[in-house]
Amino acid sequence: MCGIVGYIGQRDSVPIILDSLARLEYRGYDSAGIAVINEQGLRGSKSVGKLARLVSLLHDDPLHGSIGLGHTRWATHGRPNDVNAHPHLDCSGSIAVVHNGIIENYAELRERLKAQGHRFVSETDTEVISHLIESHDKGDVVEAVRRTLAELRGAFGLGVISSKDPSRLIFARNGASPLIVGVGENEMFVASDIPALLQYTRETVVIQEGEMVVVGSDGYKLTSFEGAPIERKALRITWNAAQAEKSGYKHFMLKEIFEQPSVVKETLAGRIDEDYDVRLEPELGSIDDELLRSISKICITGCGTAYHAGMVGMYLLRSLVGLPVEMELASEFRYGDPVVDPATLVLAISQSGETADTIEAAKIAKGRGATLLGVCNVVGSHLTRLDDGTLYTRGGPEIGVAATKTYTAQVTAMILAALHLARVRGTVPPQRLREIARATSLLPAAVDVVLNESDRIKRIARTMSEAQSVLFLGRYINYPTALEGALKLKEISYIHAEGYAAGEMKHGPIALLDRRTPVVAVVTSGHVREKILSNVAEAKAREAPIICVAHADDADVADIADEIIPVPRVDPLLAPIVNVAPLQLLAYHIADFKGCDVDQPRNLAKTVTVE
Ligand code: M6R
Repeated sequence: MCGIVGYIGQRDSVPIILDSLARLEYRGYDSAGIAVINEQGLRGSKSVGKLARLVSLLHDDPLHGSIGLGHTRWATHGRPNDVNAHPHLDCSGSIAVVHNGIIENYAELRERLKAQGHRFVSETDTEVISHLIESHDKGDVVEAVRRTLAELRGAFGLGVISSKDPSRLIFARNGASPLIVGVGENEMFVASDIPALLQYTRETVVIQEGEMVVVGSDGYKLTSFEGAPIERKALRITWNAAQAEKSGYKHFMLKEIFEQPSVVKETLAGRIDEDYDVRLEPELGSIDDELLRSISKICITGCGTAYHAGMVGMYLLRSLVGLPVEMELASEFRYGDPVVDPATLVLAISQSGETADTIEAAKIAKGRGATLLGVCNVVGSHLTRLDDGTLYTRGGPEIGVAATKTYTAQVTAMILAALHLARVRGTVPPQRLREIARATSLLPAAVDVVLNESDRIKRIARTMSEAQSVLFLGRYINYPTALEGALKLKEISYIHAEGYAAGEMKHGPIALLDRRTPVVAVVTSGHVREKILSNVAEAKAREAPIICVAHADDADVADIADEIIPVPRVDPLLAPIVNVAPLQLLAYHIADFKGCDVDQPRNLAKTVTVE
């Protein structure tokens, strides 16, 4: 989605803004722009395409100024082109606006402003904002922005500068469009995502819904849209700039896949005690043991990869806690009359904590009296302010659009949540819970073993990169592993892929199979191993090339598979963490062979803040 950055201080804002925009490229965009204020007034440059094009324009026609705004646009209203790129100006060319989100009533505002004589040049909804501010500007731009905010409908994050008031930047947020102020020494930064700030400061203030912030080089003033002052101290974030660098890897995605052993370790740290009991009480806020003993149902929601992590959670919770567990995509949950009540625990899973559908689902759940547990990677994000308790995944910044390490961290969090609930509710003998917790603590080493197979997987990937379509099969707790493997492949390599519960094959998808359609099956130990082996045999009988994620010593798999990607034996309930890594690597190497833009696949955004 769109990215916003702003700078005010003693330095030239242009290199800082371009550097920060580069750090937001991973979020997906189709054009970029910048506006600064200098002795000549408001000046800017913008261009369709990658940031490199804007950089080259600025090389030929340089800009400078110690206050400025930058933007990467992901088109919603109006095609990606130079004119529709942000910033957007008013008629006088003194006000510049950058904007994320959608102004729902832009058409009616545009008609009104046109009737008043305002001239529009773009097809965007954003342009109404600069003209509206101009129409309200009676010499106090902050007041003009305030009046403008009162007229805008929709979800947005926006940034404004005016050459009539060159000592401050103004930002406002309504809905799921993150904005974070970074506090420096006599300089201030603003960005829509943390990685854009890490180079400069780790002291941050998260702007919340319905808030406006006026930023000068020596500080910030936070208020409600109506002007009521809000006190919020800066929060020091633990992520560091090195985590958002490629560190010698060809792509962020590859680096993030290889970070998984340490991410699992980090997510477990301090949560399993010396007796191997999982204890999450200190972090779960009001979700205490008494409340957990009183719930009668669990509902899990999220989007994309987070949804798949939730599915693993569903199997874990059913197995260990024995409660009814429902799983629903957040985009369906919000419109599907969900049956949740005060006796329901809703788990909302989101890496970013800003995904519009997940946030809306979480609000609906809260509105119906359910207890909301957020599972989230970003401290202070929208989800973490809505929920009753947050179980943080500790994945660090994930720059590749394809979620990898944060998926593993989410599945780790699901294991912890299930072990915690099972202990509190006494649904599994303590000895068995401790056995699982101990096995969980050994997972980082097991994932490491799988990552050592990268070269073998690369060789398999070379053959598979010719495929038009690939089927991923799994059963039970590895059904979501198959879904996740298929999602990874399609999103970064653009090869059609389906994840299927293997038992469903003969109810339709088996018709797709022939010798050109590889089948990737997850066949590891557990009560469904023999069942899925039979499903793989059915695929083999249709001449499909068979690639199995399996144990090296499984003779039955060796008989049937064309290729085996060996994975270590772990407790079957924990296997999704180990089994997904080869599928991530397979997708990565296939996409790399095909020359795809692995970290920024076409049409995708890292965080989907629109519905
Ligand atoms: O930030 P979230 O976890 O809420 O994002 C949800 C999905 O958009 C996300 O998991 C998406 O499916 C992945 N980037 C795909 O790899």
